[in-house]
Amino acid sequence: MLSSQSLYGVLHRPIVRIILLCLFILFLFAAMLPRTDPSGFFDLVAPQDQIPPIPHRPMGPPRHRIKAQRPLADPMAAHDGPWAKRADAVRGAFLHAYQGYLTHAAPHDELKPIAKLPVDNMRSFNGWGLSIVDSLDTMWLMGLYEEFDAGLAVVANVTFTMSPNKYAPFFETVIRYLGGLLSAYALSQDPILLARADDLGTALLPALNTSSGLPMFAVNTVNGKVAKGWAGDAGLAESVTCQLEYKYLAYLTGRKVYYDAVERVMDIMYEANVTSTGELFPLFWSIEDGVPIGRSVSVGAIGDSAYEYMLKQWLLTGRTDTKARDLYIRSMDAILDHLTYLTPNRGLLYVTDATVDIHGTFLPSHKLEHLTCFLPATLALGAATLRDVPQRHMWAARAFAHTCWVLYADSPSGLAPDVALMRSTQGPAPPSPFGDPWLAHLKQWEQSGSQGDPPGVRSPESVRDTDTAPEYTPIGKSYLLRPETVESFYLLWRTTGDVMWRERGWEVFESLEREARVEGGGYASVEDVQRVGGPKIDEMPSWFLAETLKYLFLLFTDEELVPLDRWVFNTEAHPLPVFHWSVWEMERLGITRGIKTEGDTP
Ligand SMILES: *[C@@H]1O[C@H](CO)[C@@H](O)[C@H](O)[C@H]1NC(C)=O
Ligand SMILES: *[C@@H]1O[C@H](CO)[C@@H](O)[C@H](O)[C@H]1NC(C)=O
Ligand SMILES: *[C@@H]1O[C@H](CO)[C@@H](O)[C@H](O)[C@H]1NC(C)=O
Repeated sequence: MLSSQSLYGVLHRPIVRIILLCLFILFLFAAMLPRTDPSGFFDLVAPQDQIPPIPHRPMGPPRHRIKAQRPLADPMAAHDGPWAKRADAVRGAFLHAYQGYLTHAAPHDELKPIAKLPVDNMRSFNGWGLSIVDSLDTMWLMGLYEEFDAGLAVVANVTFTMSPNKYAPFFETVIRYLGGLLSAYALSQDPILLARADDLGTALLPALNTSSGLPMFAVNTVNGKVAKGWAGDAGLAESVTCQLEYKYLAYLTGRKVYYDAVERVMDIMYEANVTSTGELFPLFWSIEDGVPIGRSVSVGAIGDSAYEYMLKQWLLTGRTDTKARDLYIRSMDAILDHLTYLTPNRGLLYVTDATVDIHGTFLPSHKLEHLTCFLPATLALGAATLRDVPQRHMWAARAFAHTCWVLYADSPSGLAPDVALMRSTQGPAPPSPFGDPWLAHLKQWEQSGSQGDPPGVRSPESVRDTDTAPEYTPIGKSYLLRPETVESFYLLWRTTGDVMWRERGWEVFESLEREARVEGGGYASVEDVQRVGGPKIDEMPSWFLAETLKYLFLLFTDEELVPLDRWVFNTEAHPLPVFHWSVWEMERLGITRGIKTEGDTP
């Protein structure tokens, strides 16, 4: 047995001390060798030449995340049903469009489908391969994994740079590029996509660094210089339609700066006094001091997706952002009260824009924009998820989607005009050729005992009452491959289960095939929807790939590939997964509302 005395003695023998020193040096040397462990567990030192590591959550416990395995669901599941064949046809259309782009235009932003040339609209889309980024999630959902992987290779190379005097438009870049990257990341979990989204999110942030916090129109992604748009002021949709993207990005990266920058915009909306415009948000806002400018209100261009994002902020945060929800309900009620009309003879419900005079009277334009046809989708989603919203939200959704459908069904080409003036020109002389507010009809209907369908709603909604005069005139005659109407069909199909909406979507698709498909790849916008086989406009906007074909595909797949209780579509149809802030995140980001409210329907 070795006494402590003799152990001390052994350790102090010179030979033992040399051996110990050698062992120590060896240990240090081994610790400095690069480690290559296939499990990655011991991969503590990243080689310098790799892409930057994805940002990690800075602290806190692991969280629940919707993890999509490839495939998310099998898009080919019911392969031989009648609807699966239609879904297949839409996939074929996507391939026709995308192959045309790949052959003639990649990696530029968009395809000119007739000239078969690429186009980089530097003023709008930055030249970073827009059509690819905007289409990634569509490819994933359609099961086109080869195309998806090829797209990833391009995304991996994107640096989001531009020359010093160019600008990226904040709104378009957020909804198309940032939304596209985040959604493709959520579906595939490929870290490249999150790394690029984080790069882009940071590069665009200077747009929000204004005295009020409302975004500038555009920003240079390299030097951070900002620029105003034609209007000078901030548009309503432009200001609010960054909430889903930046809040989800804040959730993924743990970066407080993202959350703070966009929540400042919401604070302005919450605090704004909009009583003089009947609780509707004016279209323009001062970037300097964050107050509304002018008295124009609209659910079409410049306004539209602001209202959509109020509801969707609540949904995306696991139905916890009750302040955004309440703003949505208040705004939607105001839209139904003040901007919603019924045509005199056919009883078509439509939503228009207006200016509000100093007495608070609404002066409507009676124009209906195709862009506004997204509203039935939002109303139906709200009615299906909110407790206590009046039934009239769902009635309005069905009635308005029917009108949007009528614009297609009446048209010789089977496609809807971009803008219609809702004014009755023939038939029995109406008291007002524009019709009366829907609210007045609704009150009358209720007072007389709510007999039959509510005004504007038909069950079943029938069309082709062609003996009646149309009650509108197309004043923007083109069809720009827009998605809003089929988006509404998709949401109505999912929330009501009425197969009529699928049938109508199929008719729209058939018209697209007939009127917009271009030989040799691509689809083109249609110049005049009142002509059959008429001239085309040499454009295939990326939203056709991102939205129109995605919603049509989802409308025809029997399985719900993107369950609406777990995913929220951004305004460019990019699905983002519902998430819940954890307690530590709420503390860290300063979120004061996050408690799940009881009683809201799942
Ligand atoms: C990515 O960039 C590298 C280097 O510039 C280039 O060789 C490669 O072809 C690019 N990949 C794609 C898919 O564009
Ligand atoms: C915001 O703008 C101010 C001046 O306008 C500048 O000093 C500051 O560095 C900017 N902050 C960021 C994060 O860009
Ligand atoms: C909001 O503005 C209206 C006039 O437009 C005014 O009468 C009202 O007092 C204001 N409300 C608040 C809370 O400031």
